[in-house]
Amino acid sequence: MTDYLIAPSILSADFARLGEEVDRVLAAGADIVHFDVMDNHYVPNLTIGPLVCEALRKHGVSAPIDVHLMVEPVDALVPMFAKAGASWITFHPEASRHVDRTLQLIRDHGCKAGLVFNPATPLGHLDYVLDKLDVVLLMSVNPGFGGQRFIPATLAKIAEARHIIDASGRPIRLEVDGGVKLDNIAEVAAAGADTFVAGSAIFGTPDYAATVAAMRAALAG
Ligand code: DX5
Ligand code: ZN
Repeated sequence: MTDYLIAPSILSADFARLGEEVDRVLAAGADIVHFDVMDNHYVPNLTIGPLVCEALRKHGVSAPIDVHLMVEPVDALVPMFAKAGASWITFHPEASRHVDRTLQLIRDHGCKAGLVFNPATPLGHLDYVLDKLDVVLLMSVNPGFGGQRFIPATLAKIAEARHIIDASGRPIRLEVDGGVKLDNIAEVAAAGADTFVAGSAIFGTPDYAATVAAMRAALAG
């Protein structure tokens, strides 16, 4: 049986009460914290950085923090996020001039490393770096904002990435980010995903525990 991970994106949380929100969503049964970093350069929006990651650790968050870097360039932020308590660090290959070096840098700092693919970005970057990857993150919306609609063409791409990962025989997680909701999470899993980012679909509901439980029930079929 696949070990599924539910990763609430705190982009849709109430930032004025972020520590409490993260505590609540983890108590509700979420597995990891998805932490969206936007720089108003790689994407047209601006969010949070290493200081906020560190503040969550100081607050007592012990779950893995999955840092999704939507920034360009990437490398300078890797040591800062590692020091701030990041567990996973993923980045978009077109935002780094030396993708292999950035992946190695992330691992050298003790974090799990991953590449993120936008909806229209082909998977070719996977060809020569599978041995340096712990996670592949497929965007099912264009990055920059929460609350967008899932792009259906992603389903075929998930299946393609699943095939590549399985053929490699490596324990690489396949994460999907954007527009994942109660009514499509089973379909996303059936295509081959094992890690599900959900922002508005969780934080937009009053009872996080009920939503996470309903997502797990949908995954259990
Ligand atoms: C978008 C972010 C996502 C976003 C997902 O650029 O990477 O993580 O928060 O939000 P929902 O689940 O609302 O689509
Ligand atoms: Zn994200």
